[in-house]
Amino acid sequence: MISVRSLSFKYAGASEPTLRDISAEIPDGEFLGIIGPAGAGKTTFASCLSGIIPHAVRGDFYGAVLVEGLDTADNRLTDISRLVGTVFQDVESQIVSSVVEDELLFGLENFGIPRDEIEERLTFALERVGIAALRHRTIASLSGGQRQKVAIASLVALRPKILILDEPTGELDPGSSRQVFSLLRDLNRDYGMTVVVVEQKIMLLCEFARRLAVMSEGRIVRDGTVREVLGDVGALEEIGVNCPRSALFSSLLAEKTGEDIPVCINADEAEDAARRLIG
Ligand SMILES: Nc1ncnc2c1ncn2[C@@H]1O[C@H](COP(=O)(O)OP(=O)(O)OP(=O)(O)O)[C@@H](O)[C@H]1O
Ligand SMILES: [Mg+2]
Repeated sequence: MISVRSLSFKYAGASEPTLRDISAEIPDGEFLGIIGPAGAGKTTFASCLSGIIPHAVRGDFYGAVLVEGLDTADNRLTDISRLVGTVFQDVESQIVSSVVEDELLFGLENFGIPRDEIEERLTFALERVGIAALRHRTIASLSGGQRQKVAIASLVALRPKILILDEPTGELDPGSSRQVFSLLRDLNRDYGMTVVVVEQKIMLLCEFARRLAVMSEGRIVRDGTVREVLGDVGALEEIGVNCPRSALFSSLLAEKTGEDIPVCINADEAEDAARRLIG
């Protein structure tokens, strides 16, 4: 579990805090999506969950983040990263090796994974992320999307309890984005991994996440099940979040007909709602 207690953070040299008094609990096995407009503090918050802040970033840090009971500020980043694996928004800064296979090996060896387990973990991760064919390629020869998959595969190989991903599909086409989310769902369901993902593709996110937190100006301003959060279309628009069209549709339908229409979180539900009204 991750427990965030009255967390505030101000980058060194900044005049205003970027995170303002955030408290949240992320239980084991959660699949949490974080959305919010640009500059809301999503990356900064994700960095606090993974311990990068306060360990590798200068600034004023108040409150506490506890990961499995460990206070991130009082424990070494190497110990925290055994529990929390992170894929950064800026994937380039994360990759240290020049060949795909080496990138995965680097993490596995660093974590002291026994030799006889390494090959199995490596193949599993490459296959699950769909890049087995890239195993011996140089990183320099890969596209942005392929590099993103390498970073995700490196994480999957390490099997941390908690996965934090900051816009993991930013460089990916719709098919690959869906593939990444399906993988996250499987890891969450089959291995009980906790998934926290910052994502702009809100339709896709809502299809896979159970819980949604909306950030605005350094705060979590909405937090609930996907259906609860999408139920308040007006609030989301005001915050500057692009609402999924299915939710806009059900909200408009309810308004126009005066009927009690449940919030629709995907196109199928929107179609059903429309059919029920006609039929
Ligand atoms: N290293 C830094 N030093 C100073 N200010 C920073 C730094 N990183 C981010 N900020 C500021 O903190 C605020 C929040 O940034 P952050 O990157 O966390 O937002 P975000 O929600 O992830 O945005 P985006 O959707 O664009 O990724 C912004 O105003 C940004 O300028
Ligand atoms: Mg960001």
